[in-house]
Amino acid sequence: MIRKAIIPAAGYGTRTLPITKVLPKEMLPICGRPALDYIVEEAIRSGIEQILIVVSRSKNMILDYYDRSVELETYLEEKDKKHLLKEISLPNVHIQYVRQSYARGLGEAILLGKQFVGNEPFAVMLPDEIILSNEKQPLKQLIDMFTEVKGNIVGVKKMDPSQLKNYGVIQPKRLKNAQFQIKDIVEKPQISPPSDLAVIGRYVFNPAIFAYLENVKPDVGGEIQLTDAIKAMAKDNTSYGLEIEGKCFDIARMSEYIKLINYIWDSKEG
Ligand code: G1P
Repeated sequence: MIRKAIIPAAGYGTRTLPITKVLPKEMLPICGRPALDYIVEEAIRSGIEQILIVVSRSKNMILDYYDRSVELETYLEEKDKKHLLKEISLPNVHIQYVRQSYARGLGEAILLGKQFVGNEPFAVMLPDEIILSNEKQPLKQLIDMFTEVKGNIVGVKKMDPSQLKNYGVIQPKRLKNAQFQIKDIVEKPQISPPSDLAVIGRYVFNPAIFAYLENVKPDVGGEIQLTDAIKAMAKDNTSYGLEIEGKCFDIARMSEYIKLINYIWDSKEG
C-alpha cells in the first residue's frame, strides 16, 4: 500500500523563462487549473493520502492555492454566486510542505522528505510531466506493479532519440509485457543512450533509497542527482522500469505545453 507522495516543486523553471520569473512553473495554467493540480489529482486517484510538496522561497502561490480564500468564499456567498464555491473547494488529501533552501538538485529535494516518508514505500511525482490516461492512472500503474515486485520502480516511456539527452535513460532487460529490470541508468546521456526508454517523472521507492541519496556525490553543477541514487540501488537490489500507458506532455517545453492544452480542450469539446 503506497500512501505517501513527494512532489518536488522547488526548481527555478529556467526552461520556461521569462514567465517563471514571477509565476512558478507548477502554476502554469492548463485550461483554468494549475499544472500542479493535475498531478495532485493523479495522486488522489492513485490512492495517495498524504502529499509533501517541496517548495522554495518564490513558491508561496502554491501554498495559497491549496488553502482557503475566506474573503472570496464570503464574497461568493453574499453575491449569490454560491454555485461557484465548488470551483474553489480543496482537494481531499493531506498536503504539507518543506522548503528547499539551496538549489542542490532533485536528489536533495527528495532527501528533505525523509522524515515525512518514515519507513514505508512512497511515490515521487515530477510536476513537469503531465500524463493523461483513459485507463489506469499513471502512478497507479506503478503502485500495482510494486505490490507484485516490491522493488523500486521507475516510470519510463519510449522517446524520440533526439530527446533522450534531456532525460534519465535506462538500460533495460525486458521481463514481461511493459516491465523491465534496470541494468543501469544514465542521466541525460549526451552520446550513446543505453536505450530509448526515458524516465518520465513517476517513481515508487523503498525507503532504503534515502541511504543511497545520502551517499551521492554532487555533480559538476553541485546538484545531487536522483538518478545516481537509483543507479547505486539498482546494483544492490533489483529495480524495475515500467512503460507507462498514457499520453505524456513535458510542459517545460512550450510546444508540449500548447499540445496539452489543445488535447484537453479537444477532449472536453468532444
Ligand atoms: C529530471 C530527472 C530525469 C528525468 C526528468 C523527467 O530531470 O533528473 O532523470 O528524466 O526529470 O522530467 P530534470 O527535467 O529535472 O532536469
